[in-house]
Amino acid sequence: MKVLVTGGAGYIGSIVVEQLIQAGETVVVFDNLYQGHRAAVHPAATFVVGSLADRSAVDDLLNEHRPQAIMHFASHTLVGESMENPFRYLGENVTNGLNLLQSAVQHGVRRFILSSTANLFDEPARMPIDEAETIVPGSPYGESKYILERMLYWLDRTHDFRYAALRYFNAAGASAERGEDHHPETHLIPIVLSVALGKRDKVIIFGDDYPTRDGTCVRDYIHVIDLAQAHILALRALNRGSRVYNLGNGQGFTVKEVIQTAREISGHPIPAEIGLRRPGDPDVLIASSDRIRGELGWEPQHADLRDIIESAWKWHQAHPHGYEE
Ligand code: UFG
Repeated sequence: MKVLVTGGAGYIGSIVVEQLIQAGETVVVFDNLYQGHRAAVHPAATFVVGSLADRSAVDDLLNEHRPQAIMHFASHTLVGESMENPFRYLGENVTNGLNLLQSAVQHGVRRFILSSTANLFDEPARMPIDEAETIVPGSPYGESKYILERMLYWLDRTHDFRYAALRYFNAAGASAERGEDHHPETHLIPIVLSVALGKRDKVIIFGDDYPTRDGTCVRDYIHVIDLAQAHILALRALNRGSRVYNLGNGQGFTVKEVIQTAREISGHPIPAEIGLRRPGDPDVLIASSDRIRGELGWEPQHADLRDIIESAWKWHQAHPHGYEE
């Protein structure tokens, strides 16, 4: 199958591209290189630099390459930034997604996978969080993903569009060749590992007065390769109907546990200091992925936090300056 991957030069997108190619699919990457890296794009993929804000560029892309399915990763993705600059999310994320969907319908592409987020669940009644949980977006970022999920819901009903919305919890880890390199970096694991590499003095723990076992926030870290495999399974299941899945390991780790595991793996003391809470951080986020396990037979291969951090550590050691060599 020929798959168009928007954001295929970014962290998760580039690893999904790699896994798609290893699975024998043909891939076209579309990315504006705002956060992505040219070097992250698998050499077997066709790479087109461009912006989803430019509707005619999207039409040209679909005209020329005629994909059978689209995986849409290209997005602004930071909860905190979205609270400061809501229009970047409620505006750009939404209109770029809309451009892509309109063009897809016009060109007869009716299979679509959306990267969605755990940020849809700001007030979960139950933990772990399953797909029946009430949707309460926690930020303009989460809201922008929910708006795209709703567009897909209606396109399914009006245009026989088949989609999967995959709501990631905390994507982490690396493949042998591709890893996480954001500018600026805000995510816990790459920050902790940059301390171990001597690029930062310490990590600030954003609050230790949460109602959790050690006072720091609990998150469900999922290996990016397991996430990629879920995309491939979902793609192959689309002809059996649209679907939404929460994606995590079903196990939570505190910020302090992540730092301690990274100390053991790297052998570096990784100094940590307690700072203020980061606005908008929920205390606990753990996914129930029973639905995708049951329906698609998804089984994470790297569910252990140690495996996840080890893979990231290997990548960061091999790429101490990220993709800028
Ligand atoms: N943290 C620190 N210090 C840091 C960075 C992070 O203590 O320097 C803490 C955060 O407060 C949080 C945990 O580490 O408790 C994980 O933070 P990340 O920034 O790595 O990830 P988030 O859980 O905030 O965000 C992730 C995705 C978002 C997604 C969100 C769902 O990156 O895209 O999960 O809620 F929306």
